[in-house]
Amino acid sequence: MEGRRVETSQSRTADMTCGCRAASWMEKRPAFKSGDWVAPLLLPRKMQFLFRVRPVRRLLTRLLGPEGIYEWVIARTRYIDGIFEGALSNGVTQVLIIGAGFDSRAVRFKTAERSVRVFELDAAPTQQAKLRQYRARGIAVPANVTFVAINFDKETIEERLRAGGFAVGAKTLVIAEGVFQYITPDAAHATLKAVKNLVGRGSWLVFDYAHASVLRGEGDAYGQKRMISGTMRFGESWQFGLEKEEVKPLLSRYALKVKDLKDPPALQRQYFVDQGGKALARINGTQSIVFAEKTGKGVIAARSVTKASTRSEGRPRRSLKIGAPTRSRRSGPSRGGRNLATS
Ligand SMILES: C[S@@+](CC[C@H](N)C(=O)[O-])C[C@H]1O[C@@H](n2cnc3c(N)ncnc32)[C@H](O)[C@@H]1O
Repeated sequence: MEGRRVETSQSRTADMTCGCRAASWMEKRPAFKSGDWVAPLLLPRKMQFLFRVRPVRRLLTRLLGPEGIYEWVIARTRYIDGIFEGALSNGVTQVLIIGAGFDSRAVRFKTAERSVRVFELDAAPTQQAKLRQYRARGIAVPANVTFVAINFDKETIEERLRAGGFAVGAKTLVIAEGVFQYITPDAAHATLKAVKNLVGRGSWLVFDYAHASVLRGEGDAYGQKRMISGTMRFGESWQFGLEKEEVKPLLSRYALKVKDLKDPPALQRQYFVDQGGKALARINGTQSIVFAEKTGKGVIAARSVTKASTRSEGRPRRSLKIGAPTRSRRSGPSRGGRNLATS
């Protein structure tokens, strides 16, 4: 497989998402306001200063990304923040953040004080950039967070997490926010399989996915053209998408039951209508959010992993693969990848 840009450089889509959350935190308009007070601190100082100027901020959020992406990130942030809070009140003892980028929930939700272990997985350059920025801005990295540098397209998260001290079978919240779109179909399936094998019954998974039609270039969802061209320009083109009707059967293969699925119109109704039901903004139409719960036990002991991983994984007959074919992943650390476990 050809190398992806995220292997060697800080992810631009992670930067963009962080920018949207920073702008949203500074908002005065209630529907556009979300709670990521750390995001502005993770931006370069110049950008943070620009964002403070309301007309400039408005212009940047409209011009920098595809149509409706700012609103999409706000809705997704608010949705996942709600799940996060719910998980903590619901006895979750471990959080796994896949493709964490500049996700600051470990800090914002005071996970250390609440005795919750957090694992953050991402490509090394982005993870290192985040840690540098934490240090530069005097943000203490909570001692309960373990950072694992990984390339999902080439390594399995299961091996890395087991080696990194992940509590197998614990009630866990798994977040994959803006991630499945960017990884290969094989990596997406391996990730779901790892979730099945590693987390306990009653665990939660929340993720968003690209609509398969968008990857096929069909239809004209709101913001679709600029979404595809923008991610390609960033060197982070989308590789994986799903049909809405595929979500339930796919997750059930991995012992996950869908509790909620929100497409853009549903998110728009939830977050961007005024009291009279009038739409306040339009959300980018290319992706949806899924919230699922682990049903059966399904946890696999470490010694049976190798055997289990050689079996065909009950993959759907109808290929979900969109985009370039992938080669098999190799195991072991990626170039430059290393476990960045903090204290
Ligand atoms: C759109 S960003 C989302 C970041 C974060 N979850 C958020 O919502 O702000 C995509 C993230 O996935 C990571 N990523 C993409 N492909 C990856 C790969 N093959 N291996 C590891 N990380 C990858 C990028 O480094 C980036 O942090």
